[in-house]
Amino acid sequence: MNFHLKPLNLRTLATEKLDVLVVIVDATFKSAQDTLTRCVAKATQAGDFQGKSGQILDIYRPDGIVASHLVLAQVGAGGVADVKKAVTAAFASIKASKPQRLTLCFLQKPSALTVRVALTTLADASYVYTTTKSKAEDRSLRDVALACPVDKDVRAAFDRAVAAVMGIELAKEWGNRPANHATPTHIAQAARALAKLPHVKCQVLGPKEVAKLGMGAFQAVAQGADQPLRFIVLRYEGAPKASGPIVLVGKGITFDSGGISIKPAAEMDEMKFDMCGAASVLGVFKALAQLQPEINVVGLIPSCENLLSGRSVKPGDVVTSMSGQTIEVLNTDAEGRLVLCDALTYAQRFKPRALLDVATLTGACVIALGGVRSGFFCTDEAMSAALLQAGESAQDPCWPMPLDDDYAEGLKTSFADVANVAGRAGGAILAAKFLQRFAGKQPWAHLDIAGTAWKSGTAKGATGRPVGLLLDYLLSVAAYNE
Ligand code: BES
Ligand code: MN
Ligand code: ZN
Repeated sequence: MNFHLKPLNLRTLATEKLDVLVVIVDATFKSAQDTLTRCVAKATQAGDFQGKSGQILDIYRPDGIVASHLVLAQVGAGGVADVKKAVTAAFASIKASKPQRLTLCFLQKPSALTVRVALTTLADASYVYTTTKSKAEDRSLRDVALACPVDKDVRAAFDRAVAAVMGIELAKEWGNRPANHATPTHIAQAARALAKLPHVKCQVLGPKEVAKLGMGAFQAVAQGADQPLRFIVLRYEGAPKASGPIVLVGKGITFDSGGISIKPAAEMDEMKFDMCGAASVLGVFKALAQLQPEINVVGLIPSCENLLSGRSVKPGDVVTSMSGQTIEVLNTDAEGRLVLCDALTYAQRFKPRALLDVATLTGACVIALGGVRSGFFCTDEAMSAALLQAGESAQDPCWPMPLDDDYAEGLKTSFADVANVAGRAGGAILAAKFLQRFAGKQPWAHLDIAGTAWKSGTAKGATGRPVGLLLDYLLSVAAYNE
């Protein structure tokens, strides 16, 4: 799908060969002397298109307009939710006609938030997963143009939104692939492919290198599976070497059966999504390569399967992490924190200015926050403010959770330095407290995306979150550097 930005010209819009022309109409609408706005005025006056936000009117082959469908979409006061609703409804109304060329037209200069929500919503609505279907039809949309009054702010918002869409779609693709088509080796290949892009490098470590580094926690999770583990190191170098990187760590469990502490059968298939943190790191690198901001970013992905076999780690086993801390594995299903803790320790060698991990970490976080906001933990006020703000600007929001030391009491054990689980209460926070022990002294944040990375039920599929949030955070840090 290609995106273009076009300065608004109502006359040429009416003469363009399009499958669909979507005109966003808000409460301030006034008719002018051209065919297009006259058509909107006619529909409004006839009472067929009133001011109710989310209302659409699909007009087939309208007089004087070349596009096959003219879709009027009402956004009322024009808030983010209004635009989302209107674009979703507009696309739903023409989806069956399999449009290839679509123009989305704003009569007034849209805000950065509006540009972002319009493009990401359209991408989301038209997305189709095809990789493991034998006769799949890909999304019909080929060309999407945004036609509106253009200035440098709109252009910047457009470029950022397009990059976000590219990153989100890469994250969705890898999230959605079943575990036998997305093994740790496949994920590493996807990372290597990103290293073809400008300023991106990739290094992949296998079982031998990981053993040599002493990543005993990561190894313990991987040891029950036949698929070999991979530890992926991605680098985006957009600033001078002296500028300390932001290090992102993504949980890359390509399938989480729970291990010996096996999960119930119902919905276990959804544990193919347990690498969505890793997928979001891949997506962010794709977007960075496209935007080329002046910043250094390292992406770390510990990737393996969590399975059962005669070699699996057992409840009660004590393993030694790369940090030297010993861990009692009381529950093999709390594997995410085990692979992440060694990646957090490894991150220290980059002398990060900030460290951020992203993980489908706990069912408890799904209970706490549902699918709307990701769980967010942070040790630094400035970093916290920047990430919360990025969640809002990217419409990929998160919500702050506590890190009081008292929450960590339950992780004490007589048999190791720390246990990997305690009771059920405050499960998302407990997991974060476990990780904090390995996070180092620089600002650290943890995003629990267990509720937001994919949708269940009939709309089952990866969401591409939190690529948008991470991208906006990194760009805000790059802008601060200027
Ligand atoms: N990948 C799961 C977390 C998860 C579960 C995400 C359900 C989304 C939906 C993670 O590895 C896990 O199994 N966590 C356990 C931790 C528990 C054993 C302390 C959980 O949440 O049940
Ligand atoms: Mn698990
Ligand atoms: Zn897991």
